[in-house]
Amino acid sequence: MISIMKKLALIATLLVSPALLASGGGGKNLDSVYLNLSDKGSLRRGAHTFVNYCLSCHAASYMRYERMAQDLEIDAQTLRENLMFAAEKPGELMTVNMAPEDAKRWFGVVPPDLSLTARSRGADWIYTYLRSFYWDESSPTGWNNALFPNVAMPHVLYQWQGMREAHFDESHGAVKITGFEQIAPGEMGEAAYDSAIRDLTNFMVYLAEPAKLVRYRIGFWVMIFMLLFVGLTYALKKEYWRDIH
Ligand code: HEC
Repeated sequence: MISIMKKLALIATLLVSPALLASGGGGKNLDSVYLNLSDKGSLRRGAHTFVNYCLSCHAASYMRYERMAQDLEIDAQTLRENLMFAAEKPGELMTVNMAPEDAKRWFGVVPPDLSLTARSRGADWIYTYLRSFYWDESSPTGWNNALFPNVAMPHVLYQWQGMREAHFDESHGAVKITGFEQIAPGEMGEAAYDSAIRDLTNFMVYLAEPAKLVRYRIGFWVMIFMLLFVGLTYALKKEYWRDIH
């Protein structure tokens, strides 16, 4: 009896631990974000931000424009006019035009490929990171980041968010950021900016695992099939039992 209990406990642990590992990120001061991968509008807005503001430095070289357009239901004309700045043909991968040597010279590091970042860092991390930039005159780019101190990336969306300064608490030895103060307004208010970053994070989660959308689609039809099947089985059961009663 005890050994069965032990086995069950072991199985339960094995089942649960990958889920815990996958959630990752350590949870340190991260803002959690609610994402909806079946919201195609959100994914399209995120894609628009991504190709306009991120693809100039970062590649997403596992993704083809064509596949993105198909998955997110973007027509060929919109794709060509609004989303394809760094490529000639829809079949091309989402690579970056900047030469790695130039990037290294300008930023000190080569901006990493963002294809899998949503998996390595987690959605909450990305959502928090893109909302944690602040103005810092001592940094080479003029920007710093509360989640990623001394980051080499400038705040590329500062026109949307505006400029913020950080407030520090240095009373306990370690310097701690206690809050931000808006010093110049952006084009967006806080809620609109958060919402734009939510869409962008949503897109990056899709980017890291495009097959998820396919799985959702299949899952939907599997549910429909199960419902029909249950109905059919029930009808059959009634048919069989009719003669017996
Ligand atoms: C001007 C060039 C540039 C642009 C544009 C840019 N980044 Fe970056 N980004 C960088 C650099 C450089 C780093 C590496 C930072 C470091 O290691 O200090 C980086 C790092 C990152 C990281 C951290 C990756 C990791 O796992 O460490 C994320 C996430 C990221 N960028 C997202 C974005 C997104 C989203 C956009 C578009 C809104 C964007 N970046 C636009 C230069 C850029």
